[in-house]
Amino acid sequence: MSNSGLFISFEGIDGSGKSTQVMRLADHLRDQGHDVVLTREPGGSDGAEEIRALVLQGDPDRWSAETEILLFTAARRDHLERLIRPALAAGKIVICDRFADSTRMYQGLSRGDLRGTVDTLHDLMIGVEPDVTILIDMDPVEGLKRAKGRQGTEERFEDFGADLQAAMRAGFLDLAAQFSDRFRVIDGAQAMDAVTADIRTAVAQALTARH
Ligand code: TYD
Repeated sequence: MSNSGLFISFEGIDGSGKSTQVMRLADHLRDQGHDVVLTREPGGSDGAEEIRALVLQGDPDRWSAETEILLFTAARRDHLERLIRPALAAGKIVICDRFADSTRMYQGLSRGDLRGTVDTLHDLMIGVEPDVTILIDMDPVEGLKRAKGRQGTEERFEDFGADLQAAMRAGFLDLAAQFSDRFRVIDGAQAMDAVTADIRTAVAQALTARH
């Protein structure tokens, strides 16, 4: 096996079924004998998990959009330094539930057009993209129903409503077209097992290409 590792991210609107699929993929790859690190953003390292509580809990107006970009990027930088880079260097498969594309969409779109700011800060402080990004594409009305069905304290972004979720869905599909080399768009409206199967196929291709 090559020692270069493989960096996989998952993206999609809230309630796209992403978290279940992330776990299924990790289990599947482990069953195949791969060394898998399963992680998430915001979070994934001690410092980044502390930032997670700051950005996901509390009043929706708690932070300005710009401050939020700084906080998400700070969390990502810590995650990258302490977990992602060392794991990839050791040849592991890193599966990350959300990465920089989420900042491009959530912070870049939700309160005016801040995409340029997100990208500038990303270039300066992060500078890497996943090898493969699995986008679970999903009808926002369905997604919102699912997201609202979950009780929890991390609701700042889930309160955005259907219009913003629709803009986000379109934005993710635009990103997939822009970064078509790494994005794989999966139809999230299918039965869960069919979604799982499509994801396995996409990742198997990426693993073959790596060798
Ligand atoms: P997550 O825990 O993945 O929630 P879900 O399972 O509903 O997808 O993400 C938490 C929230 O954080 C989600 O609403 C998206 C938001 N988020 C951003 O706004 N910017 C970011 O850069 C990231 C990584 C997440």
